Amino acid sequence: MPRPAAGYKKTTRIVHGPARTERWDYSHHAVPPLTASTTFRLESVERGARGFTEFGRFSDEDAKAPVYIYDRLDEPTRGLLETQIAAMEGTDFCLAFASGMAAVSGAMGAVLEAGDEVVAHTLLYGCTHSLLTNWYPKQGIKVRRADFTDPKAVARALTKRTRVLYFESPVNPTLDLVDLRSIAELAAKASAGRRRRVLTVIDNTFATPFCQRPTEHGIDLVVHSLTKNIGGFGTEVGGAVCGPKALFPQVMSYRKDYGGILSPKAAWNILVYGVPTIPLRIKRQQYSALQVARFLESHPLVKEVRYPGLDSFPQRALALRQLRDFDGGFAPGNMIYFRLDERKVSGVKFVNHVAKNAYCVTLAVSLGHTKTLIEMPSAMTHSAYAGAGPMREHGGIRLSIGLESPGDVIKDLDASLKAVSKKR
Ligand SMILES: Cc1ncc(COP(=O)(O)O)c(C=O)c1O
Repeated sequence: MPRPAAGYKKTTRIVHGPARTERWDYSHHAVPPLTASTTFRLESVERGARGFTEFGRFSDEDAKAPVYIYDRLDEPTRGLLETQIAAMEGTDFCLAFASGMAAVSGAMGAVLEAGDEVVAHTLLYGCTHSLLTNWYPKQGIKVRRADFTDPKAVARALTKRTRVLYFESPVNPTLDLVDLRSIAELAAKASAGRRRRVLTVIDNTFATPFCQRPTEHGIDLVVHSLTKNIGGFGTEVGGAVCGPKALFPQVMSYRKDYGGILSPKAAWNILVYGVPTIPLRIKRQQYSALQVARFLESHPLVKEVRYPGLDSFPQRALALRQLRDFDGGFAPGNMIYFRLDERKVSGVKFVNHVAKNAYCVTLAVSLGHTKTLIEMPSAMTHSAYAGAGPMREHGGIRLSIGLESPGDVIKDLDASLKAVSKKR
């Protein structure tokens, strides 16, 4: 008996999924099964032919049962996860990739051609920066950089060849915010009279769809690293591209041919454990992050703290407007970026002390984990910048707040600050 999901809150819908779709047809399973079949039995050549003909055409999840042919093309467990992520983002489709970087390169690769130009924010996740600087020029794609916190600077970087505006918001690691509406309007204006529109692509990994849904502000394509807070437990690597039905065939066909699919086993874990617990985990992390950020802000050895939940956050008004959870509450997320006063204490010494002595703060890259993770981006995740450009100032520290008791995270940070300040 189909039970309509409409009328239920998103927090409830991501636990239960749609009541019934052609994909979600496991009426007697309280938890969806993990499918593990690389290939699918086809009753006839005609059915196989239909599958290939229909492949890559957008159809609503309720329209009709897809013809599954082969895992790399489409398969049910990954499809269920995609339905859930698209519902969270409020997009027509979501396609899951093998990693966040496969999603970043998939979203752009699907819409770019040799001769096109990309305008990208000056500061991006290190591997995305590497993709744009080391690979795109070899493929005949020119990349211009602009400060996306200043839409006028982006407008100045646009040319007749611009096809993609690419950025993160919040930016990894500084947490700068980009005004999504202004960038979407800029792209719409620049698209007038063009055969191929200027598309906006955002990496929404830091916020997750729980804290921010960029297409509500006019952005075209949203990418995620599922490895982070959507997966949530630090056990799966994955990525996702979400967007409007008009771009579905390109992204689907790109994924088929470049082959970077998410495995159904990883999809199942993210679907069953990660997705339903997103609101719970992030609300808890935000509660803790605010306390940790306030502690750092009040500490005499700390020079600067950036957390969108702090009153002192430079783009506070924009944060309040854009970072909103499923129920409209302010959702500043779980990421903090801070700098120590290097005249008094070395950031490297502090992080090393944490790494060796802290119980509940772990020196590790990645983010959106159950555990609180600390790292130094200029030396690690953003080392592709080689200490130049936006990463020339060495020593900023990134914290991804986990599910511990916030007082314990503060205790560990405080102990290391005390220890390294004594050693000076
Ligand atoms: C903002 C952001 N985007 C993309 C990625 C890449 O994700 P993955 O490691 O899943 O490829 C990362 C990884 O840290 C990231 O922080």
